[in-house]
Amino acid sequence: MYGTRGRLTKDGIRLHEPADFAGMHRAGRVAAAILDAIGVRVRPGVSTGEIDAEIERLVAGHGAASATIGYRGYQHASCISVNHVVCHGIPGPKLLKDGDILNIDVTVIVDGWFGDTSRMYVAGSPGRKAERLIQVTHDALMRGIEAVRPGASFGDIGHAIQTHVEGQGMSVVRDFCGHGLGRVFHAPPNVLHYGRPGSGPVLEEGMFFTIEPMVNLGRPETKVLADEWTAVTRDKSLSAQFEHAVGVTAQGCEIFTLSPAGRFHPTWG
Ligand code: MF3
Ligand code: CO
Ligand code: CO
Repeated sequence: MYGTRGRLTKDGIRLHEPADFAGMHRAGRVAAAILDAIGVRVRPGVSTGEIDAEIERLVAGHGAASATIGYRGYQHASCISVNHVVCHGIPGPKLLKDGDILNIDVTVIVDGWFGDTSRMYVAGSPGRKAERLIQVTHDALMRGIEAVRPGASFGDIGHAIQTHVEGQGMSVVRDFCGHGLGRVFHAPPNVLHYGRPGSGPVLEEGMFFTIEPMVNLGRPETKVLADEWTAVTRDKSLSAQFEHAVGVTAQGCEIFTLSPAGRFHPTWG
């Protein structure tokens, strides 16, 4: 039962026990393996609905459960966000075309632990600007992860991400953030992808959370479509996202969602 082990900080952030890391690694590895396996399906002429159906089969094949099916009324095993869709794109009949860029976000539950990760894919070959956007977004995530260690603050993570992105003339989305996770999907804190050094809660050993920056080629503003899920850039500019789940250790951090195949980025070519 959740809540029987570990402690909460004054900000309501759970400090997990050393033994809990193994459960998170198992769940994270399943989610990452599914993202490895789905790469060959991404090509022009395939629908995002077909990709999602395959993800649903892969989740079951791993003996896992989908965390997103039934979550607040969501009905799919993944979010697939194409081009100017920032996040929470709903899989459907629309066919991918050459040069489309897409984020595939999968969350699974394995033995009660949540594995949440997303990557960028390309149908066919990317345009130059799209490829640069994807590279900058990936590098921003990794810089955020490099800031994770006990005694650092969540603002340090956000600052590392924001500085890298804005230094490349791109913008960080403010309207969505990363989150604590563990035996729950979304827990405190909100992990902002922008911020000032030293601001926000201080990181402590045993915290588990995601870092999942969304980066736009144009302005940062988003809007949610009438389906109440799909978030898009207001200026229709391209958007990219990568997501890892991490746990804070005495030394720094462990990434729970590393690609077993070493294919986190790039996922094409
Ligand atoms: N996986 C997303 C995240 O990173 C959440 C998706 S919720 C859904 O937090 F319902 F849209 F699937
Ligand atoms: Co997440
Ligand atoms: Co996710």
